[in-house]
Amino acid sequence: MKLTVVGGGSTYTPELIDGFARLRDTLPVEELVLVDPAPERLELVGQLARRIFARQAHDGRIVTTDDLDAGVEGADAVLLQLRVGGQAAREQDETWPLECGCVGQETTGAGGLAKALRTVPVVLDIAERVRRTNPDTWIIDFTNPVGIVTRALLQAGHKAVGLCNVAIGFQRKFADRLGVSPADVHLDHVGLNHLTWETGVRLGGPEGENVLPKLLAEHGDTIAADLRLPRALLDRLGVVPSYYLRYFYAHDEVVRELRTKPSRAAEVAEMERHLLKMYADPELDEKPALLAKRGGAYYSEAAVDLAAALLGSAGNPYQVVNTHNRGTLPFLPDDAVIEVQAAVGPKGPLPLPVPPVDPLYAGLMANVTAYEDLALEAALRGGRDRVFRALLCHPLIGQYEYADALTDQLIAHNREHLAWA
Ligand code: G6P
Ligand code: MN
Repeated sequence: MKLTVVGGGSTYTPELIDGFARLRDTLPVEELVLVDPAPERLELVGQLARRIFARQAHDGRIVTTDDLDAGVEGADAVLLQLRVGGQAAREQDETWPLECGCVGQETTGAGGLAKALRTVPVVLDIAERVRRTNPDTWIIDFTNPVGIVTRALLQAGHKAVGLCNVAIGFQRKFADRLGVSPADVHLDHVGLNHLTWETGVRLGGPEGENVLPKLLAEHGDTIAADLRLPRALLDRLGVVPSYYLRYFYAHDEVVRELRTKPSRAAEVAEMERHLLKMYADPELDEKPALLAKRGGAYYSEAAVDLAAALLGSAGNPYQVVNTHNRGTLPFLPDDAVIEVQAAVGPKGPLPLPVPPVDPLYAGLMANVTAYEDLALEAALRGGRDRVFRALLCHPLIGQYEYADALTDQLIAHNREHLAWA
């Protein structure tokens, strides 16, 4: 099996390699190609990847290249994990929205829109080249904003599935608290990427007993502390929102916090400098502990499970993925991209039925879906007015004065990445 990682020079890649090495029975990778335009970084990461494979006696071949077309040729699956403009662009996304009193975050609100506008054209170009070389190759998109990027890919007819690690993170943590193995925990996970709620936690599979009430009763304090939301709120909701919902449920509190500390981008950039120094050590042959401080915990395990399911070698067909709604959530259009449990096989993901969703969550999902639709329009066709419409629609913005000011900021800070600006 041949797998290609676009953005393979990312400091995240050792996390992925570690997963491929440990989980070789689930996903037997014979050749792994890391594609990246930054040669020095790619070399460092590539050498470490080879050492990680060697330490775990994995005989898969690791190839590094800056040639996308050669790198994807013959790949069974291509993983996209890139960040257009790097941490520097992210820093901007996290900063200028704060001037209007709006949250600064790379996947939510105005910062998320900026990232979508930079990213969609680049990802579509890559996907087109993948398809030209290899029409049957699956594209697994981890590139944010995953909901909008996946929608763009599916709309252009690509064989694509969007992936995020939020669900697998909850699954691992809940399993730990319940004292069972992760494979025995099935989440009733519903929403859009980075806008999800765990409405049930079942033992054994989709039909298993729902132990969420018990989990909340016994571990509500720690779950709330992890999410940095009040325990009383979780009790009132009776479900577990993802930590991205804090940007909505505690928006003003988050803005106050963000104004008093360095951006996450700055923190990550600092970590990346350390990580790259560590990667250069020829003695290092495992993923360093520092990597656990990044948000992508268990990303590799989710990616291995998903690739295995798509390529027909998986044990568990149920995976949380981003895919077309197709009637699963009747209050959203069929072509909306939702993040839910799906049965995944070589034909792709088929969402499992979802019981009726509380209007408290359905309303927000519908609003953000409309925003994502307008965001994609702006990303594909450009223009100040399309940016404004997306921002005006976003539930965290909504007022024309903010939407106008944020539109100007977005364009001013991203001109070099926007062909039309
Ligand atoms: C989580 C999200 C990812 C996001 C990451 C950011 O893993 O699911 O979509 O990219 O956090 O982590 P970072 O360490 O870069 O802040
Ligand atoms: Mn994510």
